[in-house]
Amino acid sequence: MALPDIQFITPDPAALAAHTGRVVVFADLTLDAEAKRVDRLMRGALTRAVTADSWDSVKPGEGLTLAFPTGLSASAVQLIRLPRKADAEVLLKAGATIAKGLKPEGALVLARLVKPLPALIEGLALRSYVYSRKAEAPKLPGTIQIAHPEPEATATLCAEVLGRAEAVHFTRDLVNDPANILTTTEFADRLLAMTAMGLSVEVLDEPELEKLGMRALLGVGQGSESPTKVVVMQWKGAEGAPLALVGKGVVFDTGGISIKPAGGMEEMIMDMGGAAVVAGTMRALAARKAKAHVVGLVGLVENMPDGKAQRPGDVVTSMKGDTIEIINTDAEGRLVLADVLWYAQERFAPRAIVDLATLTGACLVALGFENAAVFSNDDPFCADLLKAAQTQGEGAWRMPLSPAYDALIKSRMADMKNTGGRYGGAITAAQFLQRFIKDGQPWAHIDIAGVAYPSTDTTLAPKGASGWGVRTLDALVRAKFEG
Ligand code: BES
Ligand code: MN
Ligand code: ZN
Repeated sequence: MALPDIQFITPDPAALAAHTGRVVVFADLTLDAEAKRVDRLMRGALTRAVTADSWDSVKPGEGLTLAFPTGLSASAVQLIRLPRKADAEVLLKAGATIAKGLKPEGALVLARLVKPLPALIEGLALRSYVYSRKAEAPKLPGTIQIAHPEPEATATLCAEVLGRAEAVHFTRDLVNDPANILTTTEFADRLLAMTAMGLSVEVLDEPELEKLGMRALLGVGQGSESPTKVVVMQWKGAEGAPLALVGKGVVFDTGGISIKPAGGMEEMIMDMGGAAVVAGTMRALAARKAKAHVVGLVGLVENMPDGKAQRPGDVVTSMKGDTIEIINTDAEGRLVLADVLWYAQERFAPRAIVDLATLTGACLVALGFENAAVFSNDDPFCADLLKAAQTQGEGAWRMPLSPAYDALIKSRMADMKNTGGRYGGAITAAQFLQRFIKDGQPWAHIDIAGVAYPSTDTTLAPKGASGWGVRTLDALVRAKFEG
């Protein structure tokens, strides 16, 4: 859902005692000057809090809440522990702590001494995400007032992180939305709506995909009532060959004829996570008018079993021309990506490609919910990507590619088969994708099966979609594809 209302205002010390709602202040071993002002009105209660032994167990970025404080009209005062030289991770966490405490009455944050403020605001915006489809509307956080002596300059300074947080929320909505709501058509419509932000967006439909020869992609969708689509988004903030982002957009993955077991199948609403991250990144770039040329391509399809569905044993011809023997219709993501990756190279001759996909259960087995699996044919490019992830605190871990694994996807009658057996499943999937990458084309594949939809809440997101990757890719563009 939309970002909460965040306003930047001039502090008004005289009005503090009468302020209703929540008040947020900061301290480390001692109170900062803004907190001291509140402490005086509270007759020293905050000083007692930070000198009590229990303050030792409050970690940087965490806080404690004093309800119905004496001397103030506020409903509560939240005291956040923030060391003077806090790093970005602590500032994000501090913002998240504020977000978790928010109530419909809103909050007044005395932020004059917080530096750098944008990191805190980013954590606040990211963690205040709410997703609900209950009949009764959820109690959304009220207006958050950020009190700072230079409200306009501060607002300008924070506009970029707020734009990016909004893009992360957009991605999370796509991932959280169930497949009866987020059909391939609805997905494409949401991307088309981004033309209002200055992106050019094209939707290729089935007859066009047929003409292009994308039989690997089309085979996946042929058992569904929802039409298969490829959406191409372009942000041309600079000249030259673009960075291409390619995403797997399986709006629901039943497994097809190789149907999945019932337990947990409902989670396969998230199988369009790669496409959602690509879309969110394009949105973030447009929001900040990035001086970079980036194209985003997503394959939108539903993997369903019906009378027209693809069968195990079928042989399909990809756009590239290579034939693929379908062993398991549940290994559909690589079929989607094969054709979209090839199309991206033929049309755009990109400087580099990053693809993202909730591709394999094996990725979850290997890395759990903490790290995405990164595969690449280009060491310097991979290092740039891992660095970008690290600066954003998004877990990413490199895994190997090697021709030795190719033996596992060798087919008796076709150029390759679409599965490589149980062992090394995330790697054989990556190895399959590499067949559709031209020689000398810098490329990274990110398997986000674990990180896209963690089983618990995280520092920056409630349970459900995380939006993992939007901030990493935005950071990659900023570091390597601009200026
Ligand atoms: N979408 C799944 C992978 C997945 C599993 C994502 C769990 C997130 C959570 C993918 O299409 C799939 O079904 N992969 C199979 C491949 C196998 C048949 C070779 C898998 O991982 O079991
Ligand atoms: Mn599958
Ligand atoms: Zn899938």
